Amino acid sequence: MDEKEFYLDAIRDVMPENKEDQIQAVFYSFLELEYLYDSAIELVKAQLNIFDNEFSMRFQRNPIHNVESRIKTPQSIVDKLQRKNMPLTPESARVNLTDIAGVRVISCYIDDIYAIADLLIKKSGFRLRKTKDYIQNPKSNGYRSFHMIVDVPVHMSNGQQEAPVEIQIRTIAMDFWASLEHQLHYKSIGDTKVAASLTDELKVYADIIAETDRKMQDMFKQINQL
Ligand code: GTP
Ligand code: MG
Repeated sequence: MDEKEFYLDAIRDVMPENKEDQIQAVFYSFLELEYLYDSAIELVKAQLNIFDNEFSMRFQRNPIHNVESRIKTPQSIVDKLQRKNMPLTPESARVNLTDIAGVRVISCYIDDIYAIADLLIKKSGFRLRKTKDYIQNPKSNGYRSFHMIVDVPVHMSNGQQEAPVEIQIRTIAMDFWASLEHQLHYKSIGDTKVAASLTDELKVYADIIAETDRKMQDMFKQINQL
């Protein structure tokens, strides 16, 4: 099913009494929302590029290894709203979901994570909503990353609008770990003992990776003092 049909069906499901033109209007509001989030992602990526280029000019190195971004699919927007028992409207998506637009910044070293976060907080013009430091406070499964939600002002022909963007900042090693953990998370493993043992093993590697990240950071500093 294409994106439009998916939205239209979802809207018809929750608003059966609505007339077809109202359903179309809700659909176009969803579409507008997607454009808004898409633009907000572009602005965040542009700002990250500016920081990275300036850093490389001043210090002859890049704090950012690579940047990835994604926009939540219509399917998962609808799923999440339903899961949270929230109304299925564009306005509700806008107010209740802060992870429709996501940007992931991968760095080589831990210090770079905090340097990038600091620049985003103090120098970007984005409004900081919240931060979650899963590096200082790793999750019980071993997950590490620095998360922030920022409101990005987007200038449109009909005025300025703000869109929240979830930014995750992590090292290459943390990213490596998180992608495998993500795969494990979405596997339905029948044998609970096997599942528990894989989770435990992954936690051990998270701690080893964290220790390696710290050692690599120290070595990086040593080498640059030579
Ligand atoms: P969600 O409602 O799931 O988005 O979580 P939240 O609102 O509590 O936000 P949080 O900052 O904890 O997590 C947001 C995102 O971070 C997730 O959608 C994942 O991309 C990533 N994340 C958080 N925890 C984990 C984890 O344990 N493993 C992996 N692989 N990714 C995680
Ligand atoms: Mg999420």
